[in-house]
Amino acid sequence: MPDTATESVTCRLGQSHKLTEPCSIIIFGASGDLTARKLIPAFYHLEKENQMPPEYRIVGFARREKTDESFRSELREALGEFSRTKPVDDQVWQRFAKNVFYCEGDLTDPTAYKKLEQQLAGFGSDPLRYNLLFYLATMPSQFGQVVEHLHTSGLLHVEHEKGWERLVLEKPFGHDLQSARELNSELTRYAREDQVFRIDHYLGKETVQNILMFRFSNSIFEQLWNRNTIDHFQITVTEQVGVGQRGGYYEEAGALRDMVQNHLLQVMSLVAMEPPVSLDAEPIRDEKVKLLKSIRRLSQDDIAQQVVRGQYFAGSVNGQPRPGYRQEPKVKPDSNVETYVALKLFVDNWRWSGVPFYLRTGKALPLGASEVRIQFRSTPHVLFAAECGQRLDPNSLTLRLQPNEGITLRFNGKVPGTSVEVRPVRMHFSYDAEFGAYTPEAYERLLLEAMAGDATLFIRRDEVESAWEIVDSVRRGWQNKPLSNREFYAAGTWGPVAADDLLAQSGHTWREPMVVK
Ligand code: BG6
Repeated sequence: MPDTATESVTCRLGQSHKLTEPCSIIIFGASGDLTARKLIPAFYHLEKENQMPPEYRIVGFARREKTDESFRSELREALGEFSRTKPVDDQVWQRFAKNVFYCEGDLTDPTAYKKLEQQLAGFGSDPLRYNLLFYLATMPSQFGQVVEHLHTSGLLHVEHEKGWERLVLEKPFGHDLQSARELNSELTRYAREDQVFRIDHYLGKETVQNILMFRFSNSIFEQLWNRNTIDHFQITVTEQVGVGQRGGYYEEAGALRDMVQNHLLQVMSLVAMEPPVSLDAEPIRDEKVKLLKSIRRLSQDDIAQQVVRGQYFAGSVNGQPRPGYRQEPKVKPDSNVETYVALKLFVDNWRWSGVPFYLRTGKALPLGASEVRIQFRSTPHVLFAAECGQRLDPNSLTLRLQPNEGITLRFNGKVPGTSVEVRPVRMHFSYDAEFGAYTPEAYERLLLEAMAGDATLFIRRDEVESAWEIVDSVRRGWQNKPLSNREFYAAGTWGPVAADDLLAQSGHTWREPMVVK
């Protein structure tokens, strides 16, 4: 008989390799940072792992004067710096680079799109001309006109006979509900919603994808996943980096728009949603929207009680001095923009009624880490109450999204010896230890899914809009209110004291993100 306890049973859903048809990928804004840092390294790795379609072309579209050759050599140089595997494999690069082309053109100029159309037609095969993935790595204010020009030049249709046409968009999707709605309407004037792939790179992270697998393939945890056993959640996404060179963008965004509207609310919806009827894109996204809609809307009074913002002043991170936010380039010297937010949210449904979800994110904090901590209720205070009182640590389960990706269960155990002592111990699962160090970049997965036409890991229109409703209500509460003294924090500390007060009201404390060596 095999040892069933150690026998590993792998259940594969779908193919091991995504089926991708031959296609052309057109990157608008190809001279930008994203192309060099993320997109080309991701495509290169897909090529390296034989995951690219059997035939493909990548066309960089931008205004600067370049030839195919000069574009390729710029990208090769950047790859040397940004590739997650080093050194770059030159054989793979040569194979890959043959498929990369440049189209010089101005986004606002209709003739540039004609030129693009001719270039695509010149590739000489129907799929390379008619299966088109448009990646809009431009400013969001340009999305509308790019889409319109694509349509008028015959490259984008709502209904078409040959091939497929898809749009992949980078955030931000608007800066509030109103602008998100307008943007979505602009996009869907010339494309169907199912042609629009909105990226939230958190959904491309292995560990974020694992949330659903973990929840719905393990009966032991899913049975505990409700208000009867869970006391509260702590969803943390902290960064050591400050705003650096992105001051111009950040002054318009702030942590609430930059991180909460997308990444944190996405993680929360995966952690808290109901089981979908299947693992297809629409049922999963339906459940996420339902969850977002169940988050209790915050009144002005609630915002004062349940939301804290913060901004870092000069300090030091890892022993290195750091300027304050107001001293960063392109930041107003009296800026009120938040570099930290903490929120206490409630989900008004049967499963989660009364359970607080604490979310926090910030820049210039002591550690860069993302995790979801599920804190279970305390044991009844019968056996240990007299001596341990509140000090007996409640059980917790931590999903470590990054770094040291894995899961940790914390429970109490007896300290060996003649005395009766109880203290928390931890059980770790680590991705690296179990599967080896294979951490594909989020973009690799997302680009592959977009080429394959699977929208599961992309944000649907109603998700974006529901998330904006929540964020907008908070912003309204902040309007015209300058930051108070309790909302500043020194770079390199765990955020403003007001954030500690937020949890203290309910007898909770923030737990430092777990570091597993
Ligand atoms: C981006 C934000 O979406 O996410 C950045 O715009 C932030 O401000 C980044 O630094 C964090 O992503 P990651 O993958 O490093 O956690």
